[in-house]
Amino acid sequence: MEFYEVVNRRTSVRRYKSERPSREQIERILEAAHQAPSACNRQPWRFIVVESGEMLAKVRKAYDREWLTTAPVVIVAVGNHAECWHRAADGKDHCDVDLAIAAEHLALAAANEGLGSCWICNFDRQQLSEILSLTADEEPIVMLPIGYADEPLKPHTRKAANEIISFV
Ligand SMILES: Cc1cc2nc3c(=O)[nH]c(=O)nc-3n(C[C@H](O)[C@H](O)[C@H](O)COP(=O)(O)O)c2cc1C
Repeated sequence: MEFYEVVNRRTSVRRYKSERPSREQIERILEAAHQAPSACNRQPWRFIVVESGEMLAKVRKAYDREWLTTAPVVIVAVGNHAECWHRAADGKDHCDVDLAIAAEHLALAAANEGLGSCWICNFDRQQLSEILSLTADEEPIVMLPIGYADEPLKPHTRKAANEIISFV
């Protein structure tokens, strides 16, 4: 798919068909995150693919929405605050930045595979960390359900370009 078409096809999908993406599709999507850039190339991340019925049911408890029960696969992008780069001048932790880039690589790769996804950050962090047995340094940053969309493709609604872009 052409890159700008992929960008436009990546919209938040909140209803999925029961058909599972293939293992090859999921592996290609994960490889897109594997190749993502990160500050100082620290790669402070892990990607947990939740695909068994039992684990999907547990993970859904951390974000209790009916639509999420339709997702056949959920990838949880986990950041590590001990591994990520902290800016020397002010100590700023770049975990969120790195994980956001990697998660969007996942979402764009999913769109390129003809699959839908949806960023989820409004989950119960404590609950999800416990379910996934994360360490004290780790934080689940994004839950990304992936599957074939069972709803029409929605056009983006965005501010006008001239409101947000300036050439100086
Ligand atoms: C950082 C971030 C967090 C988000 N968290 C959630 C969420 O918890 N639940 C949800 O349904 N959508 C969530 N979204 C999806 C946004 O609502 C969505 O991207 C936005 O409305 C634009 O729509 P689009 O993705 O279809 O272009 C999140 C998106 C981002 C980037």
